[in-house]
Amino acid sequence: MSDFTNSIEIIRLEALAAIAEAAEAEGLEKIRVEFLGAKGRLTDLARKVGSLPAELKPSAGQAVNQAKETVAAAHRDRLAAIAAQKKRGELLDITLPGRKPHPGHRHIIYRTMTEICDVFAKLGFSIVEGPEVETDYYNFEALNFPADHPSRDMQDTFFVGDKLLLRTHTSPVQIRTMESTKPPVWIVAPGKTFRRDDDISHSPMFHQVEGLVVDYGITMADLKGILTAFATSFFSPDTKIRLRPSFFPFTEPSAEVDIACVLCRGQGCRLCKGTGWLEILGSGMVDPALYQFVGYDPGQVSGFAFGMGVERVAMLKYGLSNIHDLYDGDLRFLGQF
Ligand code: PHE
Repeated sequence: MSDFTNSIEIIRLEALAAIAEAAEAEGLEKIRVEFLGAKGRLTDLARKVGSLPAELKPSAGQAVNQAKETVAAAHRDRLAAIAAQKKRGELLDITLPGRKPHPGHRHIIYRTMTEICDVFAKLGFSIVEGPEVETDYYNFEALNFPADHPSRDMQDTFFVGDKLLLRTHTSPVQIRTMESTKPPVWIVAPGKTFRRDDDISHSPMFHQVEGLVVDYGITMADLKGILTAFATSFFSPDTKIRLRPSFFPFTEPSAEVDIACVLCRGQGCRLCKGTGWLEILGSGMVDPALYQFVGYDPGQVSGFAFGMGVERVAMLKYGLSNIHDLYDGDLRFLGQF
C-alpha cells in the first residue's frame, strides 16, 4: 500500500470513530465539515490525487471516493439515529403519574387453607403434612376400604403405578401420623388431593384439610364441639352446624357436617337449594379397625376425624359459583381477594 492510500485509510477510520461517538447533531455537523467539507481532510486528499504519478492516479482516486462515500453514509445513518432518539425522548412525558408495580399476593386457596389451619392451631392442633403420591395401603387399605370399594376403581383414582396413586383424600395422613406418634394426637393435615372429576364444582386437583383427634375418652360431643368452634370462628360467630348420618369406611359412626346457609341463614335459597343448609365436610368417630393397623389399643383410646374441602369452603365464604375461576390464573379475578 502506498503512503497515499495508507493515509486515506487512517483518515477514514478516524472519521468513522468520531461519527460513532457523536451524541448530537451539532457535533456531527462539525465532524462532517472536518472530513467532507470544502476544506475537509478527505476533500483535501481527493484534490491531491491530480498531482500523483499517472500510474497511481486511478487506484488512489477510487480509494478516496470510496472513503468519502463510506464516511458520508455513516454520517447520514448516525444523524437519523440521533433524530429518532430525540423524538423518543420527546414522547416521554415526565408529567405522567408513575406506573404502580403490582406485587403478588397469596392465592385465595392457599390463604383459605391457612386460615382453616390457624383456627385449629388456636384450638391446640398441630399441623402435619403427608405425600401427594401415596400407596394403595395408606390411601385405602389401612383406612379400612374393602378390596372392591368403588373409589379404588380406575374411574376415580389417578394411578401412577401398581399400588401407587395420587392420594384421593388427605385421610392417609391419619394413618401415617398414628404410625409415627403415640396418643394423644391432635392434628390437622392440609394439602392437595386428586380425583378423576371435572365439572363446575369439581376439579381433578383440589385441596382438603384433614383433622384427627385420638385421645383418652373422646366422644362425638367433642367432635361436635370442635367443629362448632371452627364454624363460628371461620364463618361468623352465629353460624349453626348440624350433623347428618353418613358413611365412610374409616369412621363409625360417620356424619356429614352442614352449616346454616351463609346466604339465607337457614331460610332456604338458591345456594342451599331450599334446604337452609350447606355441606362442608365429612367426619366421624375413628373406626376401631384402624387402630389395629397402627398398633393403638381400642380399649384405651378413642377419637374423631374430619375432612373438609378447601375450595368448597372458599367458594361458600366468598360467594363463588365456578371452581375453575380459582385456577384460571386471571389476575382481575384473583386480585379481588
Ligand atoms: N376423606 C373423606 C373424603 O375425602 C372425608 C373424611 C375425612 C370423612 C375424615 C371422615 C373422616 O370424602
